[in-house]
Amino acid sequence: MLTKRLTNILIAMALILSQTQTQGCKHMPVITLTAADSAICFERDILPIFVSSCAKSGCHDPATAEEEVILNSWQGIMAAGVKPGDPKDSEVFKEIQGQMGGSGYGNLNTEQKILIQKWIMLGAKNTVDCPSDCDSTQFTFSGTIKPMIEKYCIGCHAYPNASGSIELSSHTGVANAAKNGILLNSLTHPTNWMPKSSKKLSDCQIRQFEQWINAGTPND
Ligand code: HEC
Repeated sequence: MLTKRLTNILIAMALILSQTQTQGCKHMPVITLTAADSAICFERDILPIFVSSCAKSGCHDPATAEEEVILNSWQGIMAAGVKPGDPKDSEVFKEIQGQMGGSGYGNLNTEQKILIQKWIMLGAKNTVDCPSDCDSTQFTFSGTIKPMIEKYCIGCHAYPNASGSIELSSHTGVANAAKNGILLNSLTHPTNWMPKSSKKLSDCQIRQFEQWINAGTPND
């Protein structure tokens, strides 16, 4: 009984240690590309992460251009230091692995960092107009809404620097923003839509938000 509990504690500690190591250290995780990775699309999968997490106001947007780095276009990202095929020699990727990708800066999650690493490994191509992977019948919070928020919104809407005082890093925050139609209105606004300074979300993606809101913003 006691041994079992002890083993569990040890396993938990080992897990925590291994996580802090991959997150805290600046070395790249070793990644093997699979056939499916060739579908990674710059405009659909990579650019929104940069726009939300790096090109926000006060950082690397055209108005601020911190250290003259502007990260809202393929050209800007390449100019900031991407060596196609070679993430470890890419300045942008090193920053993402280091402090810029940590919490308080871009809030990039491990999955997003791996995606960017793979995109560089595959030649950092400027792929656009890619087929949508959106399925309008899917709209759970954990499976659809949260991943979209993390991809398109979180960089600008996380504590402590949440733009417009709209905090979207928890279910409660997103549900609060959905009250009175503010969230949906921000996605469909004809001129000042969200994600700010980016492409409008597709009709299918907006429909997913709409259905989740109509269902009562469940934490499912
Ligand atoms: C690049 C930064 C940026 C990104 C990315 C971004 N926002 Fe915003 N958002 C802002 C700023 C700045 C404001 C404050 C109002 C303004 O300047 O338009 C704002 C305001 C809002 C508001 C309040 C609007 C109102 O009517 O008061 C909502 C809701 C919102 N954003 C939701 C989102 C959602 C949802 C996403 C992702 C789909 C998103 N934002 C992505 C910067 C951003």
